[in-house]
Order: sequence, then structure tokens, then C-alpha cells
Amino acid sequence: MSESVLVAGGAGYIGSHTAKRLAERGYHPVVLDNLSRGHRWAARWGTFVEADLADRDAVRQALLEHRIRAVMHFAAHAYVGESVRSPAAYYRNNVANTLTLLEAMLEVESDLFIFSSTCATYGEPEQVPIPEDHPQNPINPYGRTKLAVERMLADFGTAYGLRHVNLRYFNAAGADPDGLLGEAHDPETHLVPLVLEVALGQRPHIAIFGTDYPTPDGTCVRDYIHVTDLADAHVLALEHLLGGGASRSYNLGNGQGYSVREVIEGVGRLTGRPIPVLEARRRPGDPAVLVGSSDRIRTELGWAPRYAALDAILETAWRWHRDRPASA
Ligand code: UFG
Repeated sequence: MSESVLVAGGAGYIGSHTAKRLAERGYHPVVLDNLSRGHRWAARWGTFVEADLADRDAVRQALLEHRIRAVMHFAAHAYVGESVRSPAAYYRNNVANTLTLLEAMLEVESDLFIFSSTCATYGEPEQVPIPEDHPQNPINPYGRTKLAVERMLADFGTAYGLRHVNLRYFNAAGADPDGLLGEAHDPETHLVPLVLEVALGQRPHIAIFGTDYPTPDGTCVRDYIHVTDLADAHVLALEHLLGGGASRSYNLGNGQGYSVREVIEGVGRLTGRPIPVLEARRRPGDPAVLVGSSDRIRTELGWAPRYAALDAILETAWRWHRDRPASA
């Protein structure tokens, strides 16, 4: 019988791609999502449970009923700007609800946990590419909520024997190469889907947030990682824990930075469409450069990204945005 994995937030962007990959690898994903930001159409592999993580009884029941072997936790608010304006919602959803989930797991003696963490836990980098042992000094509430959970997991490991893997994503982008899933946030704030919407004529222009950064072309540099490569890393982390591996933290990026202008130019080349640009002021909370070293997960778990080049990432995203069904 295949192992069941609870995918909290599995109707969201990264969670849904991971649920698909789990199913492809012979696991049974049990997607638990309150659909506050996720989409019912995106939860199409395994079993779907509509529930809120704040509902400890519902979570405990899902863990027991589906004989959950491990939990992957994607359910979180993830907008830096919103976290500055509404920190209470971020601490409630990202920290308090994670505590509830962990308590439900303790009650049923479920002890394997894979956590969606972020490069935002590092804050302003002191060195790039950023290694995992870089100091973690987040500069916004979003990053602080994710770091709080990392700390909580370490304490739960010591006290209760829970084993976990923190996966610190850099900038997730791209879409399912089969065209079944893609990035569909509402509201959309991320660079890649916004530029694609400009290419499709759905937006008049893309605003560049800051052209005076200390970078080669003055715009922010980010490390883009394909969502399917992220999904693969989750399966590797799961197999590490199932095999008895110890708690670990891993960066997930490609180790190469691209500026905002390079992303815009890449979409222009790929689509052959004009991308009108508006130069705007810096967005608060944006570090100039975020590029990660993923050597640790490559070495320890054998992770090897398949869509490392920016053009390949943009190409899958473009296909999905261009062809996405009206329901998505
Ligand atoms: N950008 C623009 N114009 C836009 C949107 C974004 O110039 O309309 C710029 C941003 O200023 C940034 C870059 O494009 O320099 C990438 O921005 P995104 O919003 O796509 O991604 P972020 O780097 O802000 O966010 C990502 C994750 C967050 C995580 C953060 C860590 O999506 O969850 O990295 O810093 F917190």
C-alpha cells in the first residue's frame, strides 16, 4: 500500500505541483486546504479534505482516517508587503495554525514534517550565494513568521522527537510541464506571472520596483527556481525522513541571479510581444540581491533541477498562462 502524505495547503501553487509529483511517485497525497487562497481545481490528485488548520479536531481526524505517514506544510500567507500591513493575520495563519497542526500530529504520534520555509528568513544577505548557515535575521513579518516555525520545529525535535526538513525556497516560478497547473494568485504580486499578463495584453505595463539598486542594471536580482524542481525536492526530503534521516534545512535555488530587467527581456524574447515598462520606486522590504547556494541538498539528497535555466522556467509559465482554461 502506498504511503499517505498530508499536503496542507495542497490547493495552492507549490502545494498542488507537489501533490501531483507525489502521486506520480506512487504516494497518496491527502490535500487539506481551506480554499482561502488555493483553488479546488488545483487539488486533483489523491484525496481532498476541505478544512482549516485552526480546526484541530478536523486535522486530527484527517491524520487518523488517512493513516498519514508524513506532513508537508505549504499553507501560509506569503506576501511580504501584506505581512507588514497585517502582521496579526500572518502570525495567526503562519505560526498559530502551524502550532495547531503540530499539536494534532503529537496527539496521534505522527512525527515527520516537511516545512515550506523561505530565503526571506535570512534578511539582507551578508554573502551570496547564501548558504544554509548564513545568519537568519528576517527584515519583514513574513520572514519572521517562517523563522518562528523553524525554531518551533527544532524545539519539538528536541522535546518530542519530531523530525523535520525545512526547505527554504528562493523565487518559485514556472508551471507544470504537462500544462495542468500553474501560478494563479489572487491578487497576483509576483514578477513572472505579471510580466506574462502584460505579454497577453491583460495589463498595460509592468512596473519595475526600483532602478537604483547596487546591481549591474540597477534592478533587483533574484534566484528563480522551477516549481516542479521544488516539488522533486519535497519528495527527496520525504524519502530522507522515511529512511530515518535526521532533521535538516536546505536552500532551494539555482545559484544564479537574474535581474528584473532580465526577466522582462526574457519574456519579451520568448513571446515575441511588446512589454511596456514603467520605472517605479523601490518596494519596501526588497533586498537588492537574493541568490542561494543549494549545494547541500544536491550533495546530501541528490537533488538536481531539471529546469535550471530562466528561459526554461519562463517557457512553462508562458504555456500555462497562454492556454489556461477559463476555470483556472
Ligand atoms: N517586481 C517588480 N515589479 C512587480 C513585481 C515584482 O519590479 O510588479 C520585482 C520585485 O521588486 C522583486 C522581483 O521583482 O525585486 C521579484 O518579486 P516577486 O514579488 O516576484 O518575488 P519576491 O522576491 O518579492 O518574493 C519571493 C517570494 C516570497 C518571499 C520572497 C523572499 O514570492 O514569498 O521571495 O524575499 F518572501
